[in-house]
Amino acid sequence: MKFLVVGASGQIGRFLMKAVRPPDQVFGTFLSLPADALARGGGTQSGGRGQGLAAPAPENWLRLNIVDAARVRAVFERVRPSHVALCAALTHVDFCQEHPEQAAKVNVEGVRNVLEACAAHASKLAFFSTEYVFDGINGPYEENDAPRPLSVYGQTKLDAERLLLDCALAPLIIRTTVVYSFLPGSKNFIMQLADRLRQGQFMNVANDQYSHPTYAPNLAAVTRSLIGAGKTGIYHVVGPDYMNRYDFALKAAEILGFDKSFIRPISTTELGQKAPRPLRAGLKTDKLARDLGHALTGVEAALREIRPQLSANAA
Ligand SMILES: NC(=O)c1ccc[n+]([C@@H]2O[C@H](COP(=O)([O-])OP(=O)(O)OC[C@H]3O[C@@H](n4cnc5c(N)ncnc54)[C@H](OP(=O)(O)O)[C@@H]3O)[C@@H](O)[C@H]2O)c1
Repeated sequence: MKFLVVGASGQIGRFLMKAVRPPDQVFGTFLSLPADALARGGGTQSGGRGQGLAAPAPENWLRLNIVDAARVRAVFERVRPSHVALCAALTHVDFCQEHPEQAAKVNVEGVRNVLEACAAHASKLAFFSTEYVFDGINGPYEENDAPRPLSVYGQTKLDAERLLLDCALAPLIIRTTVVYSFLPGSKNFIMQLADRLRQGQFMNVANDQYSHPTYAPNLAAVTRSLIGAGKTGIYHVVGPDYMNRYDFALKAAEILGFDKSFIRPISTTELGQKAPRPLRAGLKTDKLARDLGHALTGVEAALREIRPQLSANAA
């Protein structure tokens, strides 16, 4: 198999690059990070976003803006992938709320460009979506539950899902949420928490946003398995623990060795985020368990895996 990971410089993309093993080949795209830094396993000025990750050679990293249809075609011409994992997106939920046109351009029109290139090359497509397609009134949700996004970000991801489900390609759509990992420079919840608490800064964390934290290395491995098994349609892929962000933060502080007293519970209303959040969200994974028999790692075990990596990075 020849994989093209579009948005390979992001959190999920980085772990997907690692989940593809020889004899399979993997190529990755980035937008703003330099290819040589990515190939070294390094990253941003902030200190090595991909530290510890195996990385393919610099020539396997290609710069791509998915909004540029001609460039998308050129990248596909160069790689001719059998399989494409589409991770690229504007993922900052509050930024999307304030920039709806830009969000739609990348998250919907960009997806259309990749979809058309997949059709031209008969490449199989796996796409990442989110629990934010739901309103969070009555979660956790099954794959067939009716979506009703509250935010611009959620709406763009749902529009992209619909684009994909309406085409003849039979894509795989993976909905996930609260993805975390050890990845310096990443803005994932655990890395943000560690950065703040290490510096002795207080952190306000919502105690009414419920969801299923998902460990990125697991998500990548399950994605690889779903692709390998030729699965299509929508799959929910999340961790097993249902908890609110505050409880997740407390558990993380306990296991990672930080002072819990710097974590303050706050309601979503008080937090005043720009985009509305689904509160009782979360995703049911019965379909995944039935079709793949794959169990994801729980929060405690994943945090215990992260702890020595964080300590080594701080030393
Ligand atoms: N992380 C989560 O908790 C979560 C939850 C639910 C769903 N998802 C979905 O999973 C996917 C991957 O998420 P992630 O956490 O890995 O995101 P991320 O860390 O924010 O990475 C986003 C990736 O998209 C690239 N990108 C942004 N705009 C682009 C454009 N116009 N053209 C090409 N590439 C572009 C970025 O490139 P550069 O970094 O090089 O600029 C980066 O590689 C997204 O579709 C997201 O909606 C994520």
